[in-house]
Amino acid sequence: MSHLIQQYSLERGSLEIEYMEQYFEEFRDRKTAAEINHRLRGREHLILISLAPAVDDPDHTIPVAFKVGHELRPLEHDPPLQDLQQRLADCLDIRARRIFYSWIGGTRKEWRGQGHYRALTEQQEEWALRNAYDELVVKTKNKFYAMRATLDHLHFDVLKFERNRLDNGESKMYLHKRLTAEVIRRHRTLRMVIEAA
Ligand SMILES: CC(C)(COP(=O)(O)OP(=O)(O)OC[C@H]1O[C@@H](n2cnc3c(N)ncnc32)[C@H](O)[C@@H]1OP(=O)(O)O)[C@@H](O)C(=O)NCCC(=O)NCCS
Repeated sequence: MSHLIQQYSLERGSLEIEYMEQYFEEFRDRKTAAEINHRLRGREHLILISLAPAVDDPDHTIPVAFKVGHELRPLEHDPPLQDLQQRLADCLDIRARRIFYSWIGGTRKEWRGQGHYRALTEQQEEWALRNAYDELVVKTKNKFYAMRATLDHLHFDVLKFERNRLDNGESKMYLHKRLTAEVIRRHRTLRMVIEAA
């Protein structure tokens, strides 16, 4: 099966991601287009959406999965990214390596288990290596079992575990993946990527 992926510009992509997020009951704080815009503006980023036939109308193609990532700079001024840097300072050399932060993403329930997230991740990896990034970093929580399993299948290694003493499900997990030509050679999905306005 070939995956159809759309790569978006910031303006339209932010609106599309805001729309997608409403389908995820797992997300407590759904991102708005304004927040996405604020985070990504002036920063190298990649907004990808996977399309697939609608369940009730197979002739009609709709957005079913998304993945948004951005560069992590050696010196961040945005408070959430400063916080991220401080938390990872003891295990990630942000000054020496170019880091691409895989910020948000997911697949709508009805389309899970069809390889959409693998396809988006492989596309992000290919793009990031082409744009001279050394590694991907991602954050999740202990309680997100599907995401943890998926990142395991996608060969992300654990960087750090941050225990939440009140609720272990809320403990944070940071994972990473070094980008090499070999990683790209091992990719398994067929993808067609089109650029949206
Ligand atoms: C996690 C999630 C993105 C997976 O999306 P998906 O499109 O179903 O994933 P894919 O079909 O591309 O699967 C990728 C790999 O992960 C594995 N995988 C996916 N979901 C899994 C699960 N629930 N349990 C075990 N393995 C799983 C697949 O078997 C596949 O491995 P393979 O390619 O080696 O066969 C999706 O379940 C989701 O959006 N969940 C909610 C989002 C979420 O919890 N976010 C938390 C904030 S970080």
